[in-house]
Amino acid sequence: MDFRKEIGKLVSANFENLNEETILELLEVPPSYDLGDYAMPCFRLAKELRKSPNIIAQEIAENIKGSELFEKIENAGPYVNFFINKKVLSETVLKEVFEKKEMFGSTNIGKGQNVTFDFSSPNIAKPFHVGHLRSTVIGNSLYKIYNFLGYNSIGINHLGDWGTQFGKMISAYKRWGDDEALKKEPIKTLQALYVKFHEEAEKSPELEDEGRLWFKKLEDGDEEARQIWKRFVDLSLEEFNRIYDLLKVKFDYYTGESFYEDKMARIVDMLKEKDLLVESEGAYVVDLEKYNMPPCIILKSDGTTIYATRDITAAIYRKETYNFAKSIYITDYSQNLHFAQWMKVIELMGYEWAKDLYHASFGRVSTEEGRLQTRKGNVILLDDLLNKAIEKVKVIIEEKNPNLENKDEVAKMVGIGAVIYNDLSNGKMRDIVFNWDRMLSFEGETGPYVQYTHARANSVLSKAGHEITSDVNYSLITNDEAVNVVRLLYTFKDIVISAMEKNEPSFIARHVMDIAQAFNKFYHECPIIVDDKELQKARLLIVYSVATVIKIGLGLLGIDAPQKM
Ligand code: ARG
Repeated sequence: MDFRKEIGKLVSANFENLNEETILELLEVPPSYDLGDYAMPCFRLAKELRKSPNIIAQEIAENIKGSELFEKIENAGPYVNFFINKKVLSETVLKEVFEKKEMFGSTNIGKGQNVTFDFSSPNIAKPFHVGHLRSTVIGNSLYKIYNFLGYNSIGINHLGDWGTQFGKMISAYKRWGDDEALKKEPIKTLQALYVKFHEEAEKSPELEDEGRLWFKKLEDGDEEARQIWKRFVDLSLEEFNRIYDLLKVKFDYYTGESFYEDKMARIVDMLKEKDLLVESEGAYVVDLEKYNMPPCIILKSDGTTIYATRDITAAIYRKETYNFAKSIYITDYSQNLHFAQWMKVIELMGYEWAKDLYHASFGRVSTEEGRLQTRKGNVILLDDLLNKAIEKVKVIIEEKNPNLENKDEVAKMVGIGAVIYNDLSNGKMRDIVFNWDRMLSFEGETGPYVQYTHARANSVLSKAGHEITSDVNYSLITNDEAVNVVRLLYTFKDIVISAMEKNEPSFIARHVMDIAQAFNKFYHECPIIVDDKELQKARLLIVYSVATVIKIGLGLLGIDAPQKM
């Protein structure tokens, strides 16, 4: 049942000069339910119908023939407000949740379309920082949301595994490398080597040449250079994978920057052929002055390629390989210019699909003490941070529910869930702050609060001890607390779709919070296990539907929902 369409039919049946489509376009969801479930503003009709919006709204409201789908249709100024019949609403929504279960809200609007997600993408031999965490969490959620809507999501980890810094790292490793240390703490050791290289190069500038030479060797396929580089990549990935395991994030491809090494020459030639490359101080660039941007460098003066060259090449490769309908890149906003530049280059190359490239950028992450700085100049290690969250939850569980089964497993789900929720609950562009106590609290607008609500709903279901059925008397669902819950379940589908359209997982995070809060009010006001078995059956179905939809919503955010906690 689609109430919007029903409104469209109803109004157009009564007004010859209004077609269904126009009506659907006009319909909005009012800010509060006092104004109805849907409202139709009539401003835009005034010109065509040659009447004031207030008069139009009044006529529509007065003339619509009764439909049992709506309890009331009334006008308020220039609006027509539609109030869905509560019984019909409950019956429609709860039956559908009951039938579709964990697929409630899923559609096939994306059928047959590939969407690529370039996310996480940390740099080899460098720490995985909170910015990468945010990219990982947002990217993973978008991946799931698109899949849920029938698209074929393709997750790509565009590792930073190429560039002149690797020559320096090889040179430093050959000079001062300690194999034991490298095995034990790869990234820390490589970081230190890199720092040492720069310190030493200040004193002996010839080191820089050595570094360049090693990068040249690496590019030319020298076996030793390749072996050392490969080792750096493998060891770094081991560290990154620890984080991906904790977050349960998977990629379809780990095609880092090095993957495009042998594919760039063709692209550089194409840029030349299309007359887009100009020489500037020995480098080759695409001039973007007309678009108010600095030039996009393609080849540096020593002939080597850069980050942007690889992004342009990767985009073309992905179009040719996956023929994506959309290609989405998730990084923080400090890279806005970089993405705007190279995406413009794709457009200038004449590719009409440039419009399908999206840079979904996000805000910065900080702690209350300031930006997440490290111990000694490098960034807080991410797996430390995640493990700290898990440890903190363990302490809370010991305190509140020491007899819980699978304590460790639950602590992991909740600790990680708290970090992910904290990350996704604000709009992408908002800067976010890590505040441990707030984030891990079971009250307030946190991940654990939503998870706890889900577990509470489950515990009610198991206490009730009998089967859930959708064969209930829906006219018993009348009080506001219950109907509010049902309304939120009803709008869940629309929310998932807008989250996809805007690339905003926060819409879903917000919505599961609304459901959890509405449920807790309902739970507080309406006893569920009662003598009136008919009423109990109806209320249990609400509880079941809430548990189901929260679990789906959390799942789309990449958060587990433990049965008990
Ligand atoms: N490795 C980059 C960084 O850590 C992020 C890469 C994002 N993806 C891309 N295609 N440029 O900042």
